[in-house]
Amino acid sequence: MPEIKVETIRRRARISTHSHIRGLGLDEKGRALPVADGLVGQREAREAAGIIVQIIKSGRMSGRGILFVGPPGTGKTALAIAIARELGEDTPFVIMSGSEIYSSEKKKTEILMEALRRSLGVRIRERRLVYEGVVKDVKVKRVRHPLAPYLTIPREARIVLATKDEEVPLTVGEEITEQIIEMGIRRGDVIWIDAETGKVFREGKAKDFAEVKTYDVETKRLVEIPRGPVKKEKEIVRTLTLHELDTIVASQRALISFFGFAFEKEIPPEVRKEVDETVRKWIESNKGEIVPGVLFIDDAHMLDIEAFSFLTRAMESEFSPLIILATNRGMAKIRGTDIESPHGIPLDLLDRLLIIPTRPYTSEEMREIIKIRAEEEDIKLSDEALEELVKLATETSLRYAVQLLEPAYIIAGENGREQVGVEEVRRARQLFIDLSASVKYLKEFESKFLK
Ligand SMILES: Nc1ncnc2c1ncn2[C@@H]1O[C@H](COP(=O)(O)OP(=O)(O)OP(=O)(O)O)[C@@H](O)[C@H]1O
Ligand SMILES: [Mg+2]
Repeated sequence: MPEIKVETIRRRARISTHSHIRGLGLDEKGRALPVADGLVGQREAREAAGIIVQIIKSGRMSGRGILFVGPPGTGKTALAIAIARELGEDTPFVIMSGSEIYSSEKKKTEILMEALRRSLGVRIRERRLVYEGVVKDVKVKRVRHPLAPYLTIPREARIVLATKDEEVPLTVGEEITEQIIEMGIRRGDVIWIDAETGKVFREGKAKDFAEVKTYDVETKRLVEIPRGPVKKEKEIVRTLTLHELDTIVASQRALISFFGFAFEKEIPPEVRKEVDETVRKWIESNKGEIVPGVLFIDDAHMLDIEAFSFLTRAMESEFSPLIILATNRGMAKIRGTDIESPHGIPLDLLDRLLIIPTRPYTSEEMREIIKIRAEEEDIKLSDEALEELVKLATETSLRYAVQLLEPAYIIAGENGREQVGVEEVRRARQLFIDLSASVKYLKEFESKFLK
């Protein structure tokens, strides 16, 4: 019998085209470093983006807009992603393409409305009664399942919670016990339990907790052991988006009115009104504050006149995120009309936007970007292959050159090579043509195609 060899496959994660971007790469003075945070060149646009980040952080940017304009492949989308990285996780950032508004299920304005509300956060502060401490011991008591006597189910648990100052044993019921099992809570974890709702939260693993080993590479966050009493009032801060609040309210109503599925498609306007009113009350009573996030609409020329007027109106409403648009069109017709306008965007909206241009790259900059992408995709390039790709990028487009990396790497593998050479780049280029070549190709054979 032939021997079967099992080889382990080297798995390479699917890498999105902007995964190398970690931020805007600016120094403390807001100046762009030549190469930093995965970004290369495009210094003025990066510095402009840095100013936008500061304005967003100070909360003064809501209700306005930014437009990135520039030729294809000059980093408009890349810069928007960099802004998102700079803002951090607490600031909502929604990315969509202009073409996403065309759906058979939802109205265009509904899709935009939802996107707007996803990009508006509400930071809610609440004082709640909690039990908080490091878990010193946890024991789950199981009983036989009433219907399947061979199974046991958790009934209750005994937990010892400790702070630096005291130690309290707690006996908790089934609901809390289930959460403890599900979350895999064990000795050394710092947790708190909401005294009213029984919800369990894990803050992380206790630093300097003698009885538990910590590893050099720790996947859980390390936190201090709390001080003071175990049972106490704690200020809890959460950020929810308006859309999340809409869904909570809509589903509660759905339960009451038994229209369970009606809300999957659209959130009724009354619900949004109710949420807005509640949020307004929270703000007035100092319980909450609005966290304006960012709605980024890529390929904005795909939006139509209806969508543009909706956005213009939305920018003027009480709660509005920062809207960032990007396009590579010059003069173009506004979709849904016969009117020509700069970037295919109506003038009254253009008037409200700050415009940031992105400029074509020099070949040195393209070389750097291709190098960074190859590293990110874990692909080794010979010097000649790199030069060939730079040449391609100047003649066709940067995007095309970057896209050829992966096919060239696969061809190299088939040729039994670890490194991509110039032949592999040429072969990939033959197999996958760029846009202008494909247009030329179709023109040449136009007469032979079906009409
Ligand atoms: N300055 C830069 N530094 C590092 N990588 C960049 C830079 N500019 C662009 N890239 C990368 O080059 C590729 C093309 O850029 P991107 O998609 O951002 O262009 P674009 O301006 O949005 O083009 P389009 O108009 O076609 O949408 C992406 O992989 C992007 O991450
Ligand atoms: Mg883009």
